[in-house]
Amino acid sequence: MTALIKLTDFSVSFSTPRGDLHAVRGVDLSINKGESVGIVGESGSGKTVLSRATMGLMPSTATCTGSVEFNGVDLSRLSRKDLRNYWGTGMAMVFQDPMTSLNPVRRIGSQITEGLIVRLGMSKEQARGRAIELLDRVRISDPFATMKKYPGELSGGMRQRIVIAIAIACTPELLFADEPTTALDVTVQAQVLELLAELRQEFNMTMLLVTHDLGVVAGQTDRVVVMYAGQIVEAATTKELFKNMKMPYTEALLKSIPRLDQQAGQRLKVITGRLPDPTKPEPGCAFAPRCLYATDKCRSEQPPLVTTQTGHQYRCFFPLGGAN
Ligand SMILES: Nc1ncnc2c1ncn2[C@@H]1O[C@H](COP(=O)(O)OP(=O)(O)OP(=O)(O)O)[C@@H](O)[C@H]1O
Ligand code: SF4
Ligand SMILES: [Mg+2]
Repeated sequence: MTALIKLTDFSVSFSTPRGDLHAVRGVDLSINKGESVGIVGESGSGKTVLSRATMGLMPSTATCTGSVEFNGVDLSRLSRKDLRNYWGTGMAMVFQDPMTSLNPVRRIGSQITEGLIVRLGMSKEQARGRAIELLDRVRISDPFATMKKYPGELSGGMRQRIVIAIAIACTPELLFADEPTTALDVTVQAQVLELLAELRQEFNMTMLLVTHDLGVVAGQTDRVVVMYAGQIVEAATTKELFKNMKMPYTEALLKSIPRLDQQAGQRLKVITGRLPDPTKPEPGCAFAPRCLYATDKCRSEQPPLVTTQTGHQYRCFFPLGGAN
């Protein structure tokens, strides 16, 4: 299969007053055309930085090393102008909070038609017609009236549908969805996830779904990548991951998913301890201070990323269920 996107030894660090902050460390990741890949990990593990840096959306304080290839083209060698040509048509992004991607003082209609006019060269009339179709496709009930509205006049769920309409307007090959439903009510969350799954099939899009929720990943992805402290610590097909989890960290994440049979008011089991300070890398396994199974070896040596015969990857000296 052809890799649509391929990251090789990709790292991102930020220059901060406290020293260099290593947000993404040595990531190797290849995603095939048509795949849906989930990226999971706690807050601060580097999911957003990885996605944004892949698209070239980083502030000047960031240093990226390694390479990002999109359809065989090394994006790190492109000028900002050339990179822009990939936004919208090659890759697009849906963020957690729709208000950060929508302009509050512009009508919805002009925000959707802009990309169609600028990137696809449509006339105003063509773009208007296409925008109405897109609004209808993302199940906005009155597309004509919605075109004239401002983001603040709509519900959170409707706003996120509009962001999705804008993201798919130029039929991108790769869609990044960064916690697309976290800011929404539970019922709306399910509808938005369902919509994304339908659109992915319909437009044959490759999707990278960022979430801290393994429950969301289970229903929506072919493959899962688990990140911890900026590194990939486990990666496998979704089926394999849930059947044969290797990393103590992934196990701890799974235990932190809220369950429907949980009594109201009962506290969620969260992973005790915190992520390590990304400005002060420790010598051993980054998870060691919080791991139930840590030994002296874990505290002094970095476990390498092991790949099994089935392609399951993990970064642990003492994998759950043994090394297989
Ligand atoms: N612009 C920036 N400047 C400095 N540090 C940053 C910047 N953006 C992110 N970071 C740091 O990079 C690390 C990874 O952050 P990132 O936003 O990718 O986490 P995340 O996994 O997306 O978390 P969340 O689930 O909360 O969205 C964090 O330590 C964060 O503080
Ligand atoms: S290497 Fe050691 S500390 Fe790290 S996850 Fe495995 S058992 Fe835990
Ligand atoms: Mg994030």
